Amino acid sequence: MLDWRVQPIVLMKKNRWQDHYARQAKEKGWLARSIFKLQEIDNRYHLIQRGHRVLDLGCHPGSWSQYALKKIGAKGELIGIDLKEPESLRAPNFRFYQLDILTIDTNWLVSQLGQVNVVLSDLAPRTSGIRSADTARSMELAERALEISLSVLTANGSFLCKVFESEELRAFRSEISRCFSITKAFRPKAVRKGSREIYVMGRKRTIF
Ligand SMILES: C[S@@+](CC[C@H](N)C(=O)[O-])C[C@H]1O[C@@H](n2cnc3c(N)ncnc32)[C@H](O)[C@@H]1O
Repeated sequence: MLDWRVQPIVLMKKNRWQDHYARQAKEKGWLARSIFKLQEIDNRYHLIQRGHRVLDLGCHPGSWSQYALKKIGAKGELIGIDLKEPESLRAPNFRFYQLDILTIDTNWLVSQLGQVNVVLSDLAPRTSGIRSADTARSMELAERALEISLSVLTANGSFLCKVFESEELRAFRSEISRCFSITKAFRPKAVRKGSREIYVMGRKRTIF
């Protein structure tokens, strides 16, 4: 337990740090602070290109989709899936499906989507505070996102996925290495301090 005299200063510093990204997002008209995680990853690895077809899993409230729409331009296409509709997001080249990715029929999805160049997954479970349960649910979503990506990605396509750090992460990374030429794990600066979030990437889809 922290001494009560230093605790308010620590909390103030933490809140100031957290507010920085939220404030920036608000000022710049992004729908969520998560934008800065994708922006940092994309600036570094150039995942999303003009004209791409992109699938955004867990797209609500829509900051990743906003960013992807800017990057793909009018000739690209963005498909978003979430349990909740991102009401503030409208674009002629944006299609949204309100669905649970855990129960979606993959064949039906492939028939609707065709092939995409990039699959993004910022899927997150509603956290319970019980570490083991939250980790397992995060991994379940990540594994399902990978499964979907393997069905819809073009050859050389890319997969980016949020997951909580855990013992299962090694096996998840191995599975990605098996299906993609390049595998990376990255923790963007905008991830909140104390969070176990990490982003895993597969580049250049290989196995068919
Ligand atoms: C952290 S938010 C995504 C934020 C988004 N990337 C953005 O920038 O606005 C995680 C999302 O995953 C969605 N989600 C969680 N489980 C899901 C499931 N089984 N199927 C579809 N969406 C799910 C939640 O509804 C939530 O909107």
